[in-house]
Order: sequence, then structure tokens, then C-alpha cells
Amino acid sequence: MHNPVMLNEVVKLLSPRSHETYIDATFGEGGYSRAILEKSDCSVVALDRDPDASPRAALFTEKYSPRFTFIPGRFGDMKTLVPPGEYDGIVFDLGVSSPQIDEAVRGFSFKQDGPLDMRMDKNGLSAADVINTYAEKEIANILWHYGEERRSRAIARSIVEARKTTPFTTTTQLAELVRKIVGFERVGFDPATRTFQALRLYVNNELKEIEAGLQASEDLLKEGGRLIVVSFHSLEDRLTKSFLKEKSGALPRTSRHLPEAPRKEASFMQLDKKITVPGTQEIKENPRARSAHLRWAIRRAK
Ligand SMILES: C[S@@+](CC[C@H](N)C(=O)[O-])C[C@H]1O[C@@H](n2cnc3c(N)ncnc32)[C@H](O)[C@@H]1O
Repeated sequence: MHNPVMLNEVVKLLSPRSHETYIDATFGEGGYSRAILEKSDCSVVALDRDPDASPRAALFTEKYSPRFTFIPGRFGDMKTLVPPGEYDGIVFDLGVSSPQIDEAVRGFSFKQDGPLDMRMDKNGLSAADVINTYAEKEIANILWHYGEERRSRAIARSIVEARKTTPFTTTTQLAELVRKIVGFERVGFDPATRTFQALRLYVNNELKEIEAGLQASEDLLKEGGRLIVVSFHSLEDRLTKSFLKEKSGALPRTSRHLPEAPRKEASFMQLDKKITVPGTQEIKENPRARSAHLRWAIRRAK
């Protein structure tokens, strides 16, 4: 069961109103969609790339139709997938859902033994394909760029050596090798974390998806439309931060006594440039919320 992160904050910022239409770009178990649909007589178009989300969404269609529509697919393709028109809000809750992590068979978790898979849409290249077939240098680059893993080269060298005798098929095989190379770092932190994050981001092309999804939002939102992004690690948050900075770019001040003036071509307005983080109570109740960062902005006139 997925516990929606920062749900109150998301709903408050979106402030659903009757007859408005929102996009939930990452349906998951529908925690955000449900809260939005219950808040007012509005409509939601939801997407998810994971085929497992479809049967869950079918229950929503049964309950909320015609206010709810589900589209299986990636938010990077959102512009061509959603019905044409302009939207009042778009919400991204990035990363993986609890069922994806908890089901060992999906291969996302280093805490459980499962196939080394990690594919959100269950097709294409798996994490095992990458680990078993890529050159040492390519593996090292993936671990460095997507996991910021300082021991990337040593891990890649060991992987290539180990696969000569036994190809990698399980999460445990990889996690144990990484733990041996990286060694203990701090209490409560598994040294395999960065390697698993890197492979997940690479296999699912997640950073490119975020860039494309944010770009699509600029076109799909109407004036006054709200963009809300909840991210879970620094690479995701950095992309969101720089997108919003660029799109709401302020001109250099002509005097320090005058407020910043937005560039004429700025497409978003950020009323709050700081990140919003979950409260201590939410983190206590849902430890997965602890790394969540929320950023938001409002679409300016086109
Ligand atoms: C953190 S969960 C969302 C949870 C949801 N807010 C809820 O309350 O249940 C992220 C979901 O986004 C989906 N996802 C990740 N990247 C995606 C993409 N590029 N396009 C569409 N869905 C994506 C995942 O499959 C996962 O189900």
C-alpha cells in the first residue's frame, strides 16, 4: 500500500475547484488522484507507465467516471497522450511507489532477493542486461552519473570480473558485491543504495523523462495553472529547480532597493523558491517521506 507523500501540501497548493481539470502524471496507487477528486467536482487525467497501475485505475474509472480518465504511458509523452486542451494543474510524484519497491519480483529493492529487473514499464533493457553486457567503463559511468557513487570504477571492475564466471540474475548478488567493495558507511545506510538508484534511473531513463514531462507542462498548463513536483533525491530535485529557475527567470536588479522583475518571456512564476519538506509527524508515520522535496510554480500568461 502506497502512503501518498505530502498529500495535504499537494492538495492545498493545487486547490482543486469545480470544473477544473488536472493531470496526475504519476498515478501509482492513486493517492493524489483520489484526494483531488474528493476535494471538488473536478476532473483528473492520470498517467502511469507501470502496467500494474491499470487495474487499480480501473477501479477509479468505475467510481469517478466521467471525472476520471487513466492513460497508460510515460509522462515524457504526456503532450501526445492526454486529450488536447489546457489544464489547471499538473502534479508529479516522482520515483517508485511502495508496491514497486515491496514486490521482490520487480527487482527494485536491495533488501529483498528478486530478479535484477527494475523496469517500471516491464519491457526493454533490464538492470541485469546492463550489468551482464555493458563494458566496464559504461557501468562505471552509470554508477557515477546517476548514483554519484565514488567507488563507481571499483564496483564496475568487480562486476565485470564476477560475471565472467556467474552472470548476475538477482538483486542479492549485486547488492552483496557492492557492499563488499564499498564497506560500511553509516548506521542505517545500505552501501548498495547508490548503485541501485543509478541502475533504476538509467534503466527507466528517468532524468530524460523528467525533463520531457516538465517541458510538456509548460505547454499544457493554462494561465494560472499550478505545477507541483515532489522529488526524492538530489538529481530529480536539481532538474526541477533548474527548470523552474530558467522558466521563471528574473532579470538582474537595476537597484538593490527594487524588487526583481520577471523576464517578459518567463512562463512560470515562483511565489516560493524554497523547497517544502514533510513535517516531522509525517516522517515519523511514513519514513519513506523523509527525503521528499516539493517545488511548485504558477503558469504565467502565454
Ligand atoms: C511515487 S509513485 C506515485 C504515487 C502516487 N502519488 C500515489 O499517491 O499513489 C510514482 C509512480 O510514478 C510512476 N512513474 C514513474 N515514472 C513515470 C513516467 N515517466 N511516466 C509515467 N509514470 C511514471 C511509477 O510507475 C509509480 O507508479
